[in-house]
Amino acid sequence: MATTLPASLYRGDEQYERERASVFSPSWLYVAHESELSAAGSYVATVRAGFPVLVSRGADGTLRGFHNVCPHRAGPLVHDGAGTASSFVCRYHGWVFEPDGALRGARDFGEPGPAEGCRLWDVQAAAWRGLVFVNLDGSAPPLLESLGTFADEVGGFDLEGFVPAGTWSHDLECNWKTYAENYLEGYHIPLVHRELARSIDVARYEVEVHENWVLHRAPPKDGTVLDGRWLWRWPNLALNVYDDAMNLEQFLPLGPDRTRVAYQYFSRDGTLDEDVSRLSKLLLDEDAAICEAVQRNLNAGVYGHGVLSERHEGGVARFQDLVRAASASRGAADGGLGPRSSRVSARWPRPRGA
Ligand code: FES
Ligand SMILES: [Fe+2]
Repeated sequence: MATTLPASLYRGDEQYERERASVFSPSWLYVAHESELSAAGSYVATVRAGFPVLVSRGADGTLRGFHNVCPHRAGPLVHDGAGTASSFVCRYHGWVFEPDGALRGARDFGEPGPAEGCRLWDVQAAAWRGLVFVNLDGSAPPLLESLGTFADEVGGFDLEGFVPAGTWSHDLECNWKTYAENYLEGYHIPLVHRELARSIDVARYEVEVHENWVLHRAPPKDGTVLDGRWLWRWPNLALNVYDDAMNLEQFLPLGPDRTRVAYQYFSRDGTLDEDVSRLSKLLLDEDAAICEAVQRNLNAGVYGHGVLSERHEGGVARFQDLVRAASASRGAADGGLGPRSSRVSARWPRPRGA
């Protein structure tokens, strides 16, 4: 029988910094829908696990990603949100960067100028079927290869035919893993989600575990055939897709004990079904209450570790194996945060004469 991760991994700055380096920096992370980046010069700036990141569409149609951190003295290039820009002008001292990240000019810097080749720190950016992902440290294999059989699972769905229908987010007082693990099992449904339990056949709830993704299934009680897929992909993305609607759910860590759950809803005509929206808010309220209670108990110092049900908690077991594997590969918190990783820092040349 699998034992759980120890409670000590669900709190504290040290573990959080370790996971920023070992989990979030080397993974492909969803950041935006491609419709937000359709025009030449459009950009989206956001933060993932504390890393400020910027994705833009060049005039040549290329999608590019950068850390939203100026190499001069760490100023922001753009404010968070969406916009268009033909170049990036740092908000602090006005250095100007080309759309491909090269330094065009260091305003009134004097001599000697910044080092030859000074540029923004790149991150990998790529789109898959309308969804834009970044890999912050540049170490991940190409996106489609990383997605693997997860991509095949939704091969029959017309994802490209969806348009955004709304967003919603909710901040929870819990570690991101507490929420992710709750998402990864249906064992709690009869106790926590009474309305959902009335509409699906809970006894036939199934969790199918794959290498770095998980599929949930439960037949509706009214006898209809469920044509959708409820999918989770390491580390923090859930994709629920049906013939006529899709929603993306991200578990965004804001710190060791705070997590933003962010939804993006999509439909064929851009309208949001009120029932879908009401039910997802109800489910999140119910999950938030139980996750916050669990987190308080994890913090209380009573629980060390527990056990996982083979029948119901295979998804949680796989998630915890992936957390363990990530920690083993990058144990130290100073090993791979964004531009300090070797691949990206190689692009930051030494100052002249150094
Ligand atoms: S920090 Fe960007 S120009 Fe100074
Ligand atoms: Fe739940």
